[in-house]
Amino acid sequence: MKDTIKWGILAPGHIAQRFTEHLLTLPDAKIVAVGSRSIDRALQFAETYNIDRAYGSYLELVKDPEIDIIYVASPHSAHYEHCLLALEHGKAVLCEKSFTANAEQAKELVKVAREKSLFIMEAMWTRFLPVYPLVKKLLDSGTIGEVRTVSANYCFFREFEAEHRIFNPDLAGGALLDIGIYPLSFAQWVMGEMPEFIESRCKLAPSGVDEQTSIMLTYKGGKSALLHCAFNSFSPTDAYICCKDGFIYIEDFNRATKAEVYKGWEKIDELKVDFEYGLAFQAAEAMRCLREGLIESPILTHQMSIDCMAIMDKIRADNGIIYPFEK
Ligand SMILES: NC(=O)c1ccc[n+]([C@@H]2O[C@H](COP(=O)([O-])OP(=O)(O)OC[C@H]3O[C@@H](n4cnc5c(N)ncnc54)[C@H](OP(=O)(O)O)[C@@H]3O)[C@@H](O)[C@H]2O)c1
Repeated sequence: MKDTIKWGILAPGHIAQRFTEHLLTLPDAKIVAVGSRSIDRALQFAETYNIDRAYGSYLELVKDPEIDIIYVASPHSAHYEHCLLALEHGKAVLCEKSFTANAEQAKELVKVAREKSLFIMEAMWTRFLPVYPLVKKLLDSGTIGEVRTVSANYCFFREFEAEHRIFNPDLAGGALLDIGIYPLSFAQWVMGEMPEFIESRCKLAPSGVDEQTSIMLTYKGGKSALLHCAFNSFSPTDAYICCKDGFIYIEDFNRATKAEVYKGWEKIDELKVDFEYGLAFQAAEAMRCLREGLIESPILTHQMSIDCMAIMDKIRADNGIIYPFEK
């Protein structure tokens, strides 16, 4: 594949703006087009970021023959439809988290991508932060023994607004899919397997989606993960990986620039990295995969995204959260 990978931005909302700013820092990436449901929004976005073409529909965007990969940044409820649209028009896809609204949709997208030999990946950007290969190496070295437990939280307060994407069941809102996916994906990355038991308790917002969710996952051999997400409180976003002979403390695991390593109670190392444009790492990985002809990233495989969706399906089912389009 060519030196420059050409991107199309689908749904120019809040995160699409930030992603675009980070993507533009990569010299081998070029954004050639943006598509919105509104031509005015597309034109405004194109003007802001100096993008060649603006389309007033997603269909026109995915038909653009110059585009190699589409970044899908619509609400969770629409990821399936928009990824499918891109794949059906021969485009690779980087799709915002949560990958889809449920595991069935995730499996279907992966099936289509594989049939068409097209790359697809969930934009779980925190997985690609440079501190994590260092953490993995440390864990694999056995210096602090086997992993026993993981804990991670991601909570912030947001006043309830029935129509807002994050509270709206029609858009697959709720704390779990919106921010719970971060600690969940983190725990799944550390454990590397599906849990044997998935226990949870959700507190529902007036719209029927979760505003607060506590999760306990139990893995083979009794390893476990304790995770929280909420829109009704603030929490530190720190994570702990606790092992037989010590632990790793990751301050702000979502934007981590360091991980402290403890043997027993004694701090023995600090794994440090520095970066400015955190959303660019996932894009760089997508472009590496495209160039190498890979249809999935070995860092964030299709199965990892499907597993997270399946765990969230179980949590929603256990707490009576069914999106209107699933009924
Ligand atoms: N990586 C991160 O740090 C991060 C942060 C925030 C959100 N996200 C994820 O990014 C995605 C979008 O979140 P956001 O906060 O950017 O949302 P947003 O600001 O509401 O933008 C979503 C865009 O999707 C388009 N859209 C298509 N169908 C829609 C519908 N039925 N209702 C509303 N909008 C629709 C709209 O663009 P047009 O109408 O112009 O086409 C809208 O601007 C979600 O998956 C979210 O979880 C990721």
